[in-house]
Amino acid sequence: MTLNLFEDAALSPLRREELCPGAVVLRGFALPDESAIFEALRHITIAAPFRHMMTPGGFRMSVAMTNCGSYGWVSDSSGYRYDATDPDSGKPWPRMPDVLLKLAQNAAASAGFTNYKPDVCLINRYAPGSRLSLHQDKNERDFDAPIVSVSLGIPAIFLWGGLCRQDRPMRVPLMHGDVVVWGGAARLRYHGVLPIKQEYHRLTGLYRINLAFRKTGRRQTGP
Ligand code: SIN
Ligand code: FE2
Repeated sequence: MTLNLFEDAALSPLRREELCPGAVVLRGFALPDESAIFEALRHITIAAPFRHMMTPGGFRMSVAMTNCGSYGWVSDSSGYRYDATDPDSGKPWPRMPDVLLKLAQNAAASAGFTNYKPDVCLINRYAPGSRLSLHQDKNERDFDAPIVSVSLGIPAIFLWGGLCRQDRPMRVPLMHGDVVVWGGAARLRYHGVLPIKQEYHRLTGLYRINLAFRKTGRRQTGP
């Protein structure tokens, strides 16, 4: 019997690319859920529309954002934080739909992180020219849980850096349906997104949408 690794890889339903220990790109992982994801996003963005938040330094972010889950990531003149209430509506964020929760849990499990319980999904919308500068996801209290990041719509170049801001980042093209999971030794890696090019996608038009699942580590109820 001959073992043809290339043939096996070609037959594999899941194309997996390791960025470093603890970080993996799952190519096309979200595609089977495409229509359910967009239906869920339609409901979320009616209840909590996209908005451009202000940085603590007083700049309007080029990426428009909203959230679903028990918490939402918010930024304003007083800083970055997780808040159970949408400051624009004064209401709780829309709950995280099952299709999104299951997608995040399955992606995390495929990357080796079992029992993932994200309590926030930050939804980023990038118009042409929008970018996200290099940053670490460190507003959470729980660094044991991974980040699951789902790319939808027009492509982006994801910057995958090191644990120091100065580390030269890799450039990773992310396409519609790709999911990146990072945790463990990679949990605090710097990352960002280069300015989005003007392209058209059949489902999102000129936009790129990113779903960033996190576990804040905050209690579900309490003071
Ligand atoms: C993020 O870092 O929150 C989003 C990354 C991305 O849009 O791919
Ligand atoms: Fe991030």
